[in-house]
Amino acid sequence: MKGGNNINKKFKISITKIFSVISVVLIFLTCSSSSETENKQRVISLNEDWQFTLIANPQASDTTPENLEWRTLNLPHDWSIEGVFKKDNPADLGGGYLPGGVGWYKKNFKLSDSTKLTFVQFDGVYMNSTVWVNGKKVGNHPNGYGSFEYNITPYLKYGPNENEILVKVDNSKQPNSRWYSGSGIYRNVWLKRVNPIYIPFNGTFITTPKVSNLFAEVSIEIDLANEYPKEKNTQITTTIFQDNLKIESVTSEETLIGNSNKTIYQDLKVTNPKLWSLESPFLYQAITQVYVDGEVIDTYKTNFGIRTFQFDLNKGFILNNEPTKIKGVCLHHDLGPLGAAINNRAIERQLEIMKEMGVNGIRTAHNPPAPKLLDLCDKMGFIVMDEAFDMWEKTKTTYDYANYWEEWHKKDLADFIKRDRNHPSIFIWSIGNEIPEQWSDRGIEIAKELKSIVHELDTTRPITLAMNPPVNMNDVDVTTQFDASKVYLNPVAASGVLDLIGYNYAHQTYEYHQKNFPNTPFIATETTSGLQTRGYYDFPSDTLKIWPLRWDIPFDGGNPGNTVSAFDQVRTPWGSLHETTWKIIKKYDYLSGMFIWTGFDYIGEPTPYSWPSRSSYFGIVDLAGFPKDVFYMYQSEWTDETVLHIFPHWNWEPGKIIDIWAYYNNADEVELFINGKSQGIRTKEGDDLHVMWRVPFEKGTLTAISRKDGQVVKEQEIKTATQPTGLRLKADRSTIIADGKDLSFITVEIVDGNGTLVPTANIQLDFSIEGEGTIIGLSNGDPVNHESFIGTSHKSLNGKCLVILQSTKLSGSLKLSVTSKGLGKSDIIISSIDKTE
Ligand code: GAL
Repeated sequence: MKGGNNINKKFKISITKIFSVISVVLIFLTCSSSSETENKQRVISLNEDWQFTLIANPQASDTTPENLEWRTLNLPHDWSIEGVFKKDNPADLGGGYLPGGVGWYKKNFKLSDSTKLTFVQFDGVYMNSTVWVNGKKVGNHPNGYGSFEYNITPYLKYGPNENEILVKVDNSKQPNSRWYSGSGIYRNVWLKRVNPIYIPFNGTFITTPKVSNLFAEVSIEIDLANEYPKEKNTQITTTIFQDNLKIESVTSEETLIGNSNKTIYQDLKVTNPKLWSLESPFLYQAITQVYVDGEVIDTYKTNFGIRTFQFDLNKGFILNNEPTKIKGVCLHHDLGPLGAAINNRAIERQLEIMKEMGVNGIRTAHNPPAPKLLDLCDKMGFIVMDEAFDMWEKTKTTYDYANYWEEWHKKDLADFIKRDRNHPSIFIWSIGNEIPEQWSDRGIEIAKELKSIVHELDTTRPITLAMNPPVNMNDVDVTTQFDASKVYLNPVAASGVLDLIGYNYAHQTYEYHQKNFPNTPFIATETTSGLQTRGYYDFPSDTLKIWPLRWDIPFDGGNPGNTVSAFDQVRTPWGSLHETTWKIIKKYDYLSGMFIWTGFDYIGEPTPYSWPSRSSYFGIVDLAGFPKDVFYMYQSEWTDETVLHIFPHWNWEPGKIIDIWAYYNNADEVELFINGKSQGIRTKEGDDLHVMWRVPFEKGTLTAISRKDGQVVKEQEIKTATQPTGLRLKADRSTIIADGKDLSFITVEIVDGNGTLVPTANIQLDFSIEGEGTIIGLSNGDPVNHESFIGTSHKSLNGKCLVILQSTKLSGSLKLSVTSKGLGKSDIIISSIDKTE
């Protein structure tokens, strides 16, 4: 822990309270254009116009490849997603059978101002990157998820001479991940230019040690570097902005000796603070300006939020004095058909879909996420559990990060905490997921060491470890009721080192948590692992399927075509059905909440299957972003929206016995009709989360009506579809920004003559685009599809397919045309406009 807020207080000379001064300040520290490398901004994007080449079968070598063909591209970039699914790709099922290799990236740029220091920042490179500037090696970074920066000033040329940044990314040693990692510079790259007195990378930390309705104390810790050889007198002013209005400021004076760093502490008060909450995630801005001789020589912006929270032994998670159940999901970092290459709109869309379902928490499984994800969670109101590692010293796959643990873990963990600790959305630090060392005393030692690294940098959030599980269930037959008398605690859980006991699965033990861990609050770090394919249904729907039967027994069952029923009836042996875990979490206040495995399907880990399956079945939403049915169970429980969702579809063999489920809320009962004839009224009893009818199929119309106190609340109708005759296109956004990055997600639906979705249509679709845009991704959500995510042709799955369009930098319109044999052609037009700011 740092020495508190009193240090250096003697340097504080004034606190100015300005409540009524209206001064709209627009200071943008970043900009998206990189066409001219050098401009007045402190940090600029360095994403555009890189040269790239891939060496599929590399020799171990650090030398620049000669005589290779380079292609021009913009970052972020993931070369694995461009590859072909092959059974013998060494990434294996974990990596979705996509290729790795060694990629080289290079970029040239010119600089004129030689008085500045220049840094290059990488938000994340998977993995093992080495950077050279003008032929000089500047550093190497094995971890594939951390953000890092190099000072490249000593290697630069100025004036008419070109500089070259060369980056080698080595993802050739496979397997090194249990899920799809992607390969390359898959996050943003930035160029930072500062004067020799400056606030370094992630150089501020803002906390709010006291918060009430009347005021909040704000403590600001600022790193300041002086790279001049001589002593300098500086003045540092931090100004707080609320809704772009200046509300408070504080000034300190510091003398920095030559070539030194200093930490500066500033305190101020915000009166009547607007709290950051899930419903209203209010963000303040702190702008710190460093002056030398009366001139501003550095300006640094930090967003922060003011909120209180605690994890209570009896009441669970409490946010701003309100008990709040964490209704969370785990997310891997891939963006489905876009692979690992980050795109702001694609992340935002994922979070919007999760919000619609009622999700209020995100776990960044199992690694530091893209900074943009955290910005969006701050802005949209999510409770984030930010996770550092999937392994410590012991490997889970042959070439994973455990190979670098000894040399790198201290720095990587510290960098991660420093990078993320200002985000108000983060409430939990996770120091690892299912770490094998949890069962040994060595695990306690490492957990203690990691905790002290975190606490050195932040004591405002609890630390957990996602344990599998905190109590030993090895000798428990998972198919029967769990016997609490058999448990013993895992050493790390029992050691008292953790602030929160993190449970992966083991829902049978949650009811004994207070007995097993009387002094440490609860969080279900990972739950459920139910399995589903969108739009496939097995009957009877109430037969439980445990696929595979045990984690260590190869799976030889399953359905033809590697499908899994979308009824909530299939689970892994370590997990539960969706309803089971939620019912327990819902029941007891002391169970703070849960993070379901997973919100979205992801590439890799196609449990229970292997090849030809290449992506997961765990998602509540499929890889394309189309919800599976259980989405509506959560929506009916987690939101106030009125939900009535009946399924499956209504296209079956005449006479076949079909189970029909309804998820509903805000109503007492649901009545089902087939072709106008009532099939009876159903009411959820006890803790039921759905109702069901079992009926023989008869072509026509299925109608469900939910009622409260006899009044109709909602109605839903599903018709039997006939032959596919047409295509219906819908855009998530029909106007996008002409910035070369923004996206429109188009859903293509196969329909019959009456416009009814054909729920069994798996047919080839062809796409073309005219105007100011490109097609950058295709997906139908099928875990078994081996068509490339990139191209102009894709199959639909159960009536649907997704096409992702991206704007160019020119405004205008984009026209997507979709054709399919016998279904004619359909178009949709999207407008792409200039940003108005
Ligand atoms: C967990 C693990 C996750 C994922 C999941 C699948 O044990 O933490 O990464 O593998 O199982 O059910």
